[in-house]
Amino acid sequence: MRPKAQCFWSHTIFTMKKLALFASGSGSNFQAIAEACQKGTIQAEIALLVCDNANAFVIERAKEFHIPTFTFNPKQYASKELFETEIVNRLQEAQVDVVCLAGYMRIVGPTLLKAYQGRMLNIHPSLLPSFKGAHAIDDAFNFGVKVFGVTVHLIDDTIDGGVILMQRAFEYYGTSRDEVEAEIHKIEHQLFPEAINRFLEQ
Ligand code: GAR
Repeated sequence: MRPKAQCFWSHTIFTMKKLALFASGSGSNFQAIAEACQKGTIQAEIALLVCDNANAFVIERAKEFHIPTFTFNPKQYASKELFETEIVNRLQEAQVDVVCLAGYMRIVGPTLLKAYQGRMLNIHPSLLPSFKGAHAIDDAFNFGVKVFGVTVHLIDDTIDGGVILMQRAFEYYGTSRDEVEAEIHKIEHQLFPEAINRFLEQ
């Protein structure tokens, strides 16, 4: 996905692609991506944070970066279709090109998918297709695997089943779940910005 070209007098100028990040919790991945955009290591800007939890720490992080936030409470809508319609409107208002799910703990429905299919990336804390779902780190740790990892993939209408863009693995022979989680986050914070860049350069 190359930058949009615009003709301005005799020069061609390139406008930055606009990202929306979706998150539900702490937002350490949001932070890593926002820092990468600020440093220019991601050639894009974050136009919007979408958050489904008014108490999430990610909202504080967005304020620090002066990034606008759309916070919504899914329980205040009669259906997923209704809140996703509102999200799509906000994304279109902000002229968002690509959506990045960075710890958004909700299954994407057909309304959002239709609007952004092929342009929606997700980070998942396992080596997919192993350990899909909301408890991937616990599931892998409790299973006793010795190779853990992270996946960035496109969202489709399956759960954690879309086309894989990037993966990174590490071996772990210790007994601390917290150490595994810390290593997973460390990898996520490098891998997600790399995957976004690769995707934008396609
Ligand atoms: C991350 O580990 C991400 O991979 C995971 O939520 C965490 C969010 O952390 N996502 C999923 O499990 C999606 N199924 P963060 O809020 O610190 O970025």
